[in-house]
Amino acid sequence: MYSYCCFLVFLFNICLCEDIINNKRFPSDFIFSVGTSAYQIEGGWNEDGKSPSIWDTTVHSNPAFIEDSSNGDIACDSYHKIEEDVAIIKELGVTHYRFSIAWTRILPNGIGEVNEAGVAHYKKLIKELKNNGISPFVTIFHWDIPQVLQDMGGILNSSFVSWYSDYARECFNRFGDDVGYWITFNEPQQICTGGYGSGVFAPAVKSEGLLEYLCAYQVVKAHAKAWHIYDSEFRSKQNGKISIALDTLAFVPASSSPSDKEAANRMLHFTLGLYANPIFLGDYPYVIKARIAARSAAEGRNRSRLPEFTQDEIDYIRGTHDFFGLNAYSAFVIEAIEDPPVQNPPSTWQDQGVNIYIPSHWEGTAQYHFVVVPWTIRPLLNWIKNTYNNPGIIITENGYPSKGDKDDRREYYIRGYLSYIRDAMIEDDVSVLGYSVWSLMDNFEWTLGYTLKYGLFNVDFSSANRTRTIRPSGEFYKKVIQTRCLVENCVE
Ligand code: NOJ
Repeated sequence: MYSYCCFLVFLFNICLCEDIINNKRFPSDFIFSVGTSAYQIEGGWNEDGKSPSIWDTTVHSNPAFIEDSSNGDIACDSYHKIEEDVAIIKELGVTHYRFSIAWTRILPNGIGEVNEAGVAHYKKLIKELKNNGISPFVTIFHWDIPQVLQDMGGILNSSFVSWYSDYARECFNRFGDDVGYWITFNEPQQICTGGYGSGVFAPAVKSEGLLEYLCAYQVVKAHAKAWHIYDSEFRSKQNGKISIALDTLAFVPASSSPSDKEAANRMLHFTLGLYANPIFLGDYPYVIKARIAARSAAEGRNRSRLPEFTQDEIDYIRGTHDFFGLNAYSAFVIEAIEDPPVQNPPSTWQDQGVNIYIPSHWEGTAQYHFVVVPWTIRPLLNWIKNTYNNPGIIITENGYPSKGDKDDRREYYIRGYLSYIRDAMIEDDVSVLGYSVWSLMDNFEWTLGYTLKYGLFNVDFSSANRTRTIRPSGEFYKKVIQTRCLVENCVE
């Protein structure tokens, strides 16, 4: 596909081109994966020594927090369905399965004593995967911090870096011989802006422009420590790769004016750069540091709301990556505006200082503000390539939400993304090493409960058995993996 003609489509709202699907085969070592996370699928919320995480306690104490007042107590019941899950993963033919480990099963007290039953569960899953020729791609933390640590301040406690890295070490120690890819944190932006900014995710603290930045600072430091532990204590014997999965929307400038382009660039720095710059380049993006510092001063503060790294921290964090993990789903248009006036309390939006909108002709989905614009992945991949010195990129998440219908649009979406990804690889020399569909099966979609479905497999939540049934989009992905190709007549 040729993305830039679609940019013209966007600008002039006319159809100048048709989607042309890339017909070049993906490389034989390309990672084709599918993903899930512990809280969203496992159930067994209080079994075999597991303690509650912040998601358990939030959904139990405040069911209204979730659209359908549901919870993850049973979810897909994957805690009891290892063989069944591995069978459907195998059916897809993926090379890798991305799943997360629940901290609360391994260390129910957050720190200290290991729960052997929890370790045994993941050992069994990993063994079953490997026996079926599927490589584990493991996320250490996918949002479910133990409540017992939250009670002591959670991520914001300065001890979090040690709590987390001790837990990560335990994961490397127990599972690392069989794991080739590790993700330290899934979507820190959602953890921090959702958990400590807008408050839409557990632990639901509303502190825009303040605690959300403290959270980001803590997560980056904890990530770096876990990377160093892996690098110095485990890499030589385990030979794996470890990085972080960062999420962003693609941001399309509203026009080709320098100010709109600058605004879109700034937004990428607020979403990706806040995490990626310290890890890939050293320190936060200058544009963010300078903006938040200036606005903080104008608010009468004697220091920036964005905590600063010391030079030692900058040096320690820089380089703590083995690949670039990217979760990418959708896009917004960004338009420059007059700088918003300084106000107290601050807001994320004021710090970013841009206008965001979705053109009415972009195809919507069942999820609010989620649009189908696969062509936007190509400029985003190029931005990452150019900004971070051409890292190997793994698309750790990409998928389509529905109410259980429109599976043909899921197929269209996945084909489109893969096609533009392949274009970027071939025509722009972007190094994309892999792609993981979210999700293997319908599951607990956080505050939207079970109302939204991302699965390549439908899950019947009304049956005690939680029956999984492959969707046509699952059959489609299976064929793509078999042929490493998106069209009938592929060329090498
Ligand atoms: C982001 C998260 O990593 C995952 O947990 C979530 O279900 C999907 N994307 C879809 O919203």
